[in-house]
Amino acid sequence: MELGKFDDLAAIILAAGQGTRMRSELPKVLHKVAGQYLVQHVIKQCTQVGLDKIILVIGHKGEQVQEALGHDFLYAWQREQLGTGHAVLQAEEFFTPDIKDVLVVCGDTPLLTKATLGNLIKQHRETDAACTILTTTLTDPTGYGRIIRNAQGEVIKIVEQKDGNPSELEVKEINSGTYCFKASILIEMLHKIKPDNKQGEYYLTDCIGLCRESNLPVMAYLTTDAEEVMGINSRIELAKAEKAFQKRINNYWLENGVTIIDPLNTYIEAEVQIGTDTVIYPYTFLQGKTSIGKGCQIGPACTIKDSKLADKNIVLNSIIIESEIGSLCTIGPFSYLRPGCKLGNQVKVGDFVELKKTTVKDDSKIPHLSYVGDANIGSKVNIGAGTITCNYDGEKKWITTIEDGVFIGSNSNLVAPVVIQEGAYVAAGSTITTDVPAHALGVARGRQVNIPNWVKKRKAAKENR
Ligand code: UD1
Ligand code: CA
Repeated sequence: MELGKFDDLAAIILAAGQGTRMRSELPKVLHKVAGQYLVQHVIKQCTQVGLDKIILVIGHKGEQVQEALGHDFLYAWQREQLGTGHAVLQAEEFFTPDIKDVLVVCGDTPLLTKATLGNLIKQHRETDAACTILTTTLTDPTGYGRIIRNAQGEVIKIVEQKDGNPSELEVKEINSGTYCFKASILIEMLHKIKPDNKQGEYYLTDCIGLCRESNLPVMAYLTTDAEEVMGINSRIELAKAEKAFQKRINNYWLENGVTIIDPLNTYIEAEVQIGTDTVIYPYTFLQGKTSIGKGCQIGPACTIKDSKLADKNIVLNSIIIESEIGSLCTIGPFSYLRPGCKLGNQVKVGDFVELKKTTVKDDSKIPHLSYVGDANIGSKVNIGAGTITCNYDGEKKWITTIEDGVFIGSNSNLVAPVVIQEGAYVAAGSTITTDVPAHALGVARGRQVNIPNWVKKRKAAKENR
């Protein structure tokens, strides 16, 4: 749905509530689904539908919300949470004359899509309504405001769960909490609402009844996708939303050329990108700003966070965090790439290898059981099993440089700062403390001594005791 830009439409996102039912120190809208804050999902859909002017109403732990979301938005403070109507009114100062309509959205409805928002706006403008409410029908509408219609089927008011009479509570059509209002009418009505209800709150929903009393047209846009309008009020609903996102995201990638062996056990966050013909095996978590190229094989049981992998990589049972990987690499099983690693092409990082802040150029191998940290490794290097870069002297971290074509024998310690120059060899079992010149062999271990007949003599000594 491309509607272009809306210069005369502002979005107001309500995010001032505490979210008591979450039982959390965190303000509700900062709980995450699919790796992003609840309110971030709402913001993203508003932006994608073409709204530039986004006003966030914040209150409970508002500084924390503001800090998490940054400075790209307008913030209106609601110092006391006196209800959704009161919340919207706090944004009044941002209602400049160029703003004709206002989209009001709750910060706790992360599953809303830009397509539905676009349809709502479109219908609102076509019908020239004072207000258009996004509604849906639920088999169990408990907790939501009910849409009350007259005999002609026109919306006449919204009644909250706590205030409804039995016949009103029978109604299955509910208020999603998303609306389009004519800006001037909204302000006029918000100044009229009173907290004369069971909760003693200023209800935004009362604006609907007031519009009708003034003979202003109110419309509903009814969506059949009930999941989309789900508001998150508890951790049970948070978990349901996570599942819904997981399904949505996995279906998106399945439709876009990615094979997911077991979608129910594959966890891909909202910002992740994946190339075609990549195959993802179960128990894999792709998180943050991760991008995976084409034709990769990822998993089983991988966690990849904020990392960039190019094409045709194979990653098995491994963890990769904040790292960059070229093409045709094999990683794992059981590799751990900590932040700041950069691998070239055709690099092999094998079992039980931990890398940290390390660059590895093309065609190099660290096949097994090594710790390599703060190192620069050239191309065509081979690092034997059990090699350790001793990068930390207890106070500072030091760099190990291993130039092109170097061969490090197994079980070596490279005590940084140290340079193993181009084409050099390090003998197995060495503890290297000074640089090894190009094409030299560095040996740093005790010489072997064989003691003839030692075993026989020992046995004889025992028998004579
Ligand atoms: C609201 C609607 C209800 C609708 C439901 C949909 C009202 C009176 N009721 O009820 O009809 O079916 O949403 O999910 O509007 N907020 C503030 N300041 C406040 C109060 C709330 O910013 O003083 C924010 C909350 O942070 C939240 C949103 O408004 O993001 C909705 O508030 P919530 O308390 O969850 O409203 P509901 O009871 O769910
Ligand atoms: Ca709610």
